[in-house]
Amino acid sequence: MTRSRRILRLALFGLTPILCLGAEMTAQAGTRIETKAFGKTSTGESVELFTLSRAGAPSVTITNLGGYVVSMLAPDRAGHTADVTLGYASLPGYLADNSYFGCLVGRYANRIAKAAFTLDGKRYSLAANNGPNTLHGGPTGFCRRVWAAKVKSGTDGDALELTYVSRDGEEGYPGTLTATVVYSLREDGGLVIDYSATTDAPTVLNLTNHAYFNLAGEGEGTILDHELQLEAEAYTPVDATLIPTGELRSVAGTPFDFRKPVAIGARIDAADEQIRFGGGYDHNFVVRGAPGTLRLAARAVEKKSGRQLEVFTTEPGVQFYTGNFLDGKTLGKAGKPYVKRGAFCLETQHYPDSPNQPAFPSAVLRPGQVYRHTTVYRLSVAK
Ligand code: BGC
Repeated sequence: MTRSRRILRLALFGLTPILCLGAEMTAQAGTRIETKAFGKTSTGESVELFTLSRAGAPSVTITNLGGYVVSMLAPDRAGHTADVTLGYASLPGYLADNSYFGCLVGRYANRIAKAAFTLDGKRYSLAANNGPNTLHGGPTGFCRRVWAAKVKSGTDGDALELTYVSRDGEEGYPGTLTATVVYSLREDGGLVIDYSATTDAPTVLNLTNHAYFNLAGEGEGTILDHELQLEAEAYTPVDATLIPTGELRSVAGTPFDFRKPVAIGARIDAADEQIRFGGGYDHNFVVRGAPGTLRLAARAVEKKSGRQLEVFTTEPGVQFYTGNFLDGKTLGKAGKPYVKRGAFCLETQHYPDSPNQPAFPSAVLRPGQVYRHTTVYRLSVAK
């Protein structure tokens, strides 16, 4: 072997471990996403599962059917992991889902009164799928669609990008809307949900994620003893069909005052007209601080396990829903019944029925504008 060859060989040997180490470090930095087949829809579309993992963060699995958060695995204070989101054991459960167990709701999350609205002088009719009102984008809203999925790699590892193009007139809404949602994991364990959308004609829009949480673990009884703090001085009271009256009512002196941590169950059956209309909590709270800035909206703690959920959002409101319509008939991922009030949702969003409420922050999107919002669900162990 010539001297120069020997030097080359030595140099390569010397480099190999460095190269391998380098590759390993790159692979482990930030978030990693593993992709698996989940099954096929009735029309033969393939659906996948994406598992996001990162050191120090809960492992989160998402499917591109409706963008459902399929599971979030979080340790308790003793290090025991539980799945804290409700859902189904397999794809057929999600295909038949009527509870919106963790999906991306659109085109308009929450209710639109009498299934109609007027925009720029034109009346649009929607399908009434909740008494006289439209709920969660109508019978075939964004939760029931297969979104195009892409794993994107950046300096902080992988992120999951889901895109859905909703055609002009779909479910009665005007304008072709392109909605993109990026799921990623932050270094502090937060699941970040970045929404953006554009349209080719004026439309209304309200996107959210409808994750149901039970911090003791999915199917582990009710959430009545979870303590909740809501960063809200006011909420939007509703009529008997859960449409806001237009008032922003102070929470002071009412069962809606969560400015200091209170057990969810403490006043959930109070003799209060609003509680009666909701069958418990099913109301939109006005999040303190400026919409457009990412700020804390809510913190929930389950004391026995020590698990804590913090919700941050740029949206003006958050719908606090206590699973009042769950009835124990649905069996969850581990076969346990999802009982009444077996979970809570904190759906970050514009106020319900904003398209018919000129005094509420506008939910109108016009061509040339970009709709954006960010929500973070951060699980940790309470100190
Ligand atoms: C609504 C509830 C509804 C639930 C499931 C919530 O966002 O406010 O009234 O039952 O979603 O559809």
